[in-house]
Amino acid sequence: MKRIGILTSGGDAPGMNACIRAAVRTALAHDLVIVGIRRGYTGLIAGDTVPLDRKAIRNTIHLGGTILETSRNKDFYTREGRLRAAAAIERMGLDGVILIGGEGTFHGATLLAADTDTAALVGVPGSIDNDVYGTDYCIGFDTAANCAVQAIDRIRDTARSHERLFFIEVMGRTAGFLALESGIAGGAEELVIPEEEVSIDRISDRIREGFIVGKKSAIVVVAEGEAPGISFRIAREVGERLAFDSRVVVLGHLQRGGPPTMRDRVLGSLLGVAAIEALLEGRSGCMVGERGGDLTCTPLEDTWQKKKPLDEDLVRIFSFLSE
Ligand code: F6P
Repeated sequence: MKRIGILTSGGDAPGMNACIRAAVRTALAHDLVIVGIRRGYTGLIAGDTVPLDRKAIRNTIHLGGTILETSRNKDFYTREGRLRAAAAIERMGLDGVILIGGEGTFHGATLLAADTDTAALVGVPGSIDNDVYGTDYCIGFDTAANCAVQAIDRIRDTARSHERLFFIEVMGRTAGFLALESGIAGGAEELVIPEEEVSIDRISDRIREGFIVGKKSAIVVVAEGEAPGISFRIAREVGERLAFDSRVVVLGHLQRGGPPTMRDRVLGSLLGVAAIEALLEGRSGCMVGERGGDLTCTPLEDTWQKKKPLDEDLVRIFSFLSE
């Protein structure tokens, strides 16, 4: 292992820069050459690289987004696109590639590994959705969840003042991690998550019950699911059952930006080092992660084919903490 490439792909997540920085520092400590591949799979296919030395990663640990930029590249789902990427890896002389991203990134990496064995591939989980199997937390989740909690706190002030019902939509396309944890931390009255069927009756009943026991306002945290904007429909349908003034707030990409929290910087650093060490140990086709406080390596195909479940205890406690 002499020359390594590193890229970020899919949705950016705060803490990705801490991970890049840690990987660069660890690589240099082992006398490896490390290059950045720009704009995710788009740059991988094009062989678009930037040199990564100490100077390039200096003063980046506190920055959100990704200094390498990112993309969602559909060409990678075609064999032709992957063969072009494999050829570029060979041209760039890479022995290993570190891919920081989420489910889509690892799906692409699994397909690439099946088409070519040009270089060892090691993944690092970075996704605010936290929906990657094989790690308790993904880089970026903590920052995004804290952003959602701050928003809920602010909205609670105005909800209480006006005696209103608020629907706050958070990200999380196929998973309710962000909604569940920010809902608990923000003291939400009700949750809508992709893991459970949406029940307008249940939402309305629970809010009505809250009003009966003296609540004057309520907050429903809604995971966007496959269709961002879903909370407008839910608010309208609940509004038809309850005579209560309501408003909708969609947090959207606000949750993806901003300086990473301490947890995301530490997790990014830990996994950046682990990725280089995995390559040095001769590993390939796996994703480094952290489970129960231990560093782990999960086969790439499991990271997106297996469904990561919500924490059952959190789901259980939400149901009575929100009463
Ligand atoms: O994958 C992370 C995520 O932020 C999802 O929560 C969201 O549905 C999606 O990305 C938005 O993607 P884009 O930035 O391409 O609109």
